[in-house]
Amino acid sequence: MRWEVLLKKHIYALGGAGLLLSVSMLALPAQELTGELPDPPEFSAQSEPVFVSVSDILEYKALPEYNEPDWVTSKYVDAGTLPPVGERLPKEPMVYKAANMPDGIGVYGDTMRHVIGGRPEGWNYIGGQSQGWGGIDIGLSECLTRTGPLFTIKADELEPMPNLAKSWEWSEDGKELTMHLIEGAKWSDGDPFDADDVMFYWEDNVLDQNVSPLNGGTPETFGQGTTLEALDPYTIKWTFKEAFPTQYLYAMAYGTFCPGPSHILKPEHPNYSDNTYDEYKNAFPPEYLNIPVMGAWVPVEYRPDDIIVMRRNPYYWKVDEQGNQLPYLNEMHYRLSTWADRDVQAVAGSGDFSNLEQAESYVEALRRSAEDDAPARLQFGARTIGYALRMNLSGNGWGEPDARAQAVRELNRDLDFRKAVTMAVDRQRLGESLVRGPFTAIYPGGLYAGTTYYDKDSTVYYPYNLEAANELLDGLGLEDTDGNGIRNFPEGTANGADVEITLLANTDYGTDTNLAEGVIAMMEPLGLRVIANFQQGTARDDMAQAGQFDWNVERQGAEMVSVVQGTSALAPTGPRTHPFHRAGTDGTLDLLPFEQELVDTVNAFIATSDNAERAELMKQYQQIFTENVYSVGLTQYPGALIINKRFANIPAGAPIFMFNWAEDNIIRERVYVPEDKQASYELHPETLPGEPGSDGPM
Ligand code: GLA
Repeated sequence: MRWEVLLKKHIYALGGAGLLLSVSMLALPAQELTGELPDPPEFSAQSEPVFVSVSDILEYKALPEYNEPDWVTSKYVDAGTLPPVGERLPKEPMVYKAANMPDGIGVYGDTMRHVIGGRPEGWNYIGGQSQGWGGIDIGLSECLTRTGPLFTIKADELEPMPNLAKSWEWSEDGKELTMHLIEGAKWSDGDPFDADDVMFYWEDNVLDQNVSPLNGGTPETFGQGTTLEALDPYTIKWTFKEAFPTQYLYAMAYGTFCPGPSHILKPEHPNYSDNTYDEYKNAFPPEYLNIPVMGAWVPVEYRPDDIIVMRRNPYYWKVDEQGNQLPYLNEMHYRLSTWADRDVQAVAGSGDFSNLEQAESYVEALRRSAEDDAPARLQFGARTIGYALRMNLSGNGWGEPDARAQAVRELNRDLDFRKAVTMAVDRQRLGESLVRGPFTAIYPGGLYAGTTYYDKDSTVYYPYNLEAANELLDGLGLEDTDGNGIRNFPEGTANGADVEITLLANTDYGTDTNLAEGVIAMMEPLGLRVIANFQQGTARDDMAQAGQFDWNVERQGAEMVSVVQGTSALAPTGPRTHPFHRAGTDGTLDLLPFEQELVDTVNAFIATSDNAERAELMKQYQQIFTENVYSVGLTQYPGALIINKRFANIPAGAPIFMFNWAEDNIIRERVYVPEDKQASYELHPETLPGEPGSDGPM
C-alpha cells in the first residue's frame, strides 16, 4: 500500500463537500509564475499499523494482585525501604491489555541503549530547560493526555488517549471540560501526584509570562481566555470561550501539558522564593540526580559528554493485565554523542534505537540492515520529515533587530521578495544533494502531501525560475549599485548597504546545515548574500525562541503533518505560539493581512469538530499559506525506525514522527526483551533511584 493511502486511513475520515468557504476573495497569483507541482515519487511503506480502538489498548482498573521484579521485593520491600508494590500503585492503575501487545505480556530485564546528539541543560522541563531530546523528556514527562500511539487508532475514533487524566466529560454547552486525574498515583520519590502539580504548571509556568516551558505551552495554546481550576485533588475543570474545542485535548498531550513535580520545583519558583526566573529555570542542573518524575525511568547517573543512565521508577502507575508493574526494561541509556552516530550505532548494534531522519545516511543504513546478520530492523514510514526556510516576519521588534536586520524584516514581509526567494530554490537538486532515489519530494511549503488535510489543488507552487526571481527583486528597487555582485538596499534604507541576510541553522544535524548551505548557494545568483549563522542545538533553539534570526532553516513540527497536534502553531494565534512570527517588544503582533486570514482559519478549525468543515478550512489554509509563500518549503522525505531485533512489543507501522516521535509512539514502558535474548547492559543492576538530589541510585 502506498504510504499516502496508509496515512489517510488513520486521520479523520473526511467525507462530503461540507461547508464551502470562499477562497475567491483571495488575490490570484500571477499565473505565469506558478506551475504544476510534481507528485511525490512512489515510496512503499514496509509495514502497516494494526488499527484498533483506545479501549483495546488500555483501561484503568484495580487488579487482584500486583507483581514486580523479584529483586525489588527482596532487596527493597523486604528490607523496609520501599512499601509493597500494591501500596505504591494508584487505586486503579492504567492497565495495558495483553491482546493489543504485539508480542504479549513481557518479562523484566535489560536496557534500551539510546544515543543522542543533544546535551542536557537540566531537569526543569516545565521551566524551559532542555534535557537533550532524543526521547529523554518524552520518557520523563507524563502528560494529561497522550497522542504518540494514535497512529494505530481507527480513523473514525481518533481522539487523544487518556493518561494522567483518566477520563473527562464536557458540559452540555461544551464550554466546560471536567477531567478526572488518576487517583493515588505517586511521583518516583513517593510524593502524591494530584491537582497541585497541575495547577502549579498552569498558574506559575504557563500563565506566568516570565517562564517559557520547553515545548512552548502558552495560555493561547489552550485558547484565548481559557481558564483552569482544581475542584478537588483529583478533579480539574477547564472553561473555554468556544463550545466543544476538542482540539485542545491534543495540546494537553506531550509537550504542552506535562506537569512537573511541584513539591520539588515550587520552592524554587520566584513566586515562592527569592530566586530570579533564571535561577528557577536553572535550579536543577544535569548533575542533580533522581529528579522525581511520573515517567517510567528516573535519571540516576550523568557523565558530561558521555552518558545519562536511568533506572526503573518504583512508583510507576501502569501495569499489564497480569498485574506486573511496568516498565519491563530496568534501565535506559542515553549516550551523549551525535545524531549521526545514533544511526551508525543502531545499525551496528552498539546502540538500540534510532529515528533515521538524516537522509544522508539512508543508503548505508539500508544496505547494512538488509544483510541477514543485521542486528537491527529498519522500517520506513510516511514522508513526515520536512524542512522549510522560515523568515522572521516580525516588523515590530521581536528579537530586537538592528537597522540591517530590520531592513531584512521589511523585505521578509514583502510578498514579491518571498516569491523571488522561493523561485530561486531548485528543490529537485536540493533533495538529491541529500540522497538520490525515491526518498525526497519537492515541498512547496504548507501542509505535507501525506496528511488527510492536504489538497493538491489548494497548493500553489512557484517552480524554480531564476530569471523571474531576479525580475521581482529588480522591481523591489534592490539594485547592485556598487557592482560587487550583491544587490544593495535602496538609498535611505540600511545606508544602501549590500543585502546581507543571516541564516540560522542547527549544527547538531548534518541535514540542517547541508540544506542551509544549499539555500545559501542558491541565493547567490539572486544577488543576495546569505551568511551562515550555524549554532549548536541549544543555542540555536534559544535564538529561534528569542526571535534572533533573519532566516531560519529547520525541520518542522507535528502541526505540518498531523494538523491536529500543535495546531495553535499553524498561525500566530497568540503572541508566543508561532515559530517565526511572535509579538514585538510592546507585546503586540503586527500581522500581515494574509496572516490574519490564517489565524482566523486556524481558530475556526479549532472551534469546530465537523470533519467536512475542517477539511475545507485546511484547504483554505493551504491556499493562503502557499500563495503567500508563508514559508519557503524545501524538501520532505520519509524516516525509518531502526530498532535492535532483540526487542519485543514494537508496534507494526510505528512512524518515527507523526503526532509525536517514535520514542512515544512505540510505548516504551510496554517494550521488553525475551529472556533468551537479554543482554547484560545494565550499569546499575538491582538498584532503584535514590532520594531526589542525592548522588546516584540506592
Ligand atoms: C530529536 C531527534 C528526533 C527525536 C526527538 C525526540 O529531535 O532528532 O529524532 O528523537 O529528538 O524528542
